[in-house]
Amino acid sequence: MIEIKSLYKSYPQRQGIIKKVNVPILKDIHLSIYDSETLALVGESGSGKSTLSRLILGLEDFDSGTIERKGSEKESVVFQDYTNSVNSHMTVQEIIQEPVIDQKKTRGDFEKILQEVQLPASYLSRYPHQLSGGELQRVCIARAIIAEPDLIIFDEALSSLDISVQLELMDVLIDLKQKTSITYLFITHDLSSVTYLADRVAFMKDGELIEVRAVNDLGNLSTEYARELLTAAEKLLT
Ligand SMILES: Nc1ncnc2c1ncn2[C@@H]1O[C@H](COP(=O)(O)OP(=O)(O)OP(=O)(O)O)[C@@H](O)[C@H]1O
Ligand SMILES: [Mg+2]
Repeated sequence: MIEIKSLYKSYPQRQGIIKKVNVPILKDIHLSIYDSETLALVGESGSGKSTLSRLILGLEDFDSGTIERKGSEKESVVFQDYTNSVNSHMTVQEIIQEPVIDQKKTRGDFEKILQEVQLPASYLSRYPHQLSGGELQRVCIARAIIAEPDLIIFDEALSSLDISVQLELMDVLIDLKQKTSITYLFITHDLSSVTYLADRVAFMKDGELIEVRAVNDLGNLSTEYARELLTAAEKLLT
């Protein structure tokens, strides 16, 4: 479990030619991420979702507040920009091997991982340009799971794929979750895409976490902004 309390983060931004001011980006965030849940983090562009995920991953410092890990959490991340997140000169096997390069993994281990993301073993010797977008994102998911993390953060990881591929990959993630006790943090600007797999939805607006609701309780949203997102998502689904 990860417990975030009263988290503040600002970035220095230039104002005029010389002056720099600290602009608050995350304001008083309180959020618990429970073991084995799928938590969706939803909000408009610039609301601070990726910043929050970088803080959870420990990639950046924050101004104040706490991020507490109960137990030894191991995290990995899958980004939207999958074409840039892999080295085009590496084979699929080399890409998947990266996070576990110091471990003795066999060809069989890599084949097993590919099987989990539903790719044929023969793909191990392929290069990124020989894969479709959806297949390459499967490879990125394989790379994320090979180190057996407790938490995977998906930052708009499926957003640029077409909807049928998104649904296929969500099924892969749901399958994976049934086999392990992994936790997912699913970041997206599109609420309609996450109600399929999320347990809870956290809504962000202008750096604040304005509401958190169970998916089966979205009908009782109390903030105007969250209700607007839900209405927009429902329109997309009908
Ligand atoms: N390294 C940085 N330096 C200065 N400002 C930053 C930095 N990183 C992010 N910001 C600012 O913080 C705000 C939140 O950015 P963030 O990337 O967290 O938003 P987001 O919710 O992930 O948006 P999107 O849906 O477009 O990915 C933005 O206004 C952005 O310009
Ligand atoms: Mg982002």
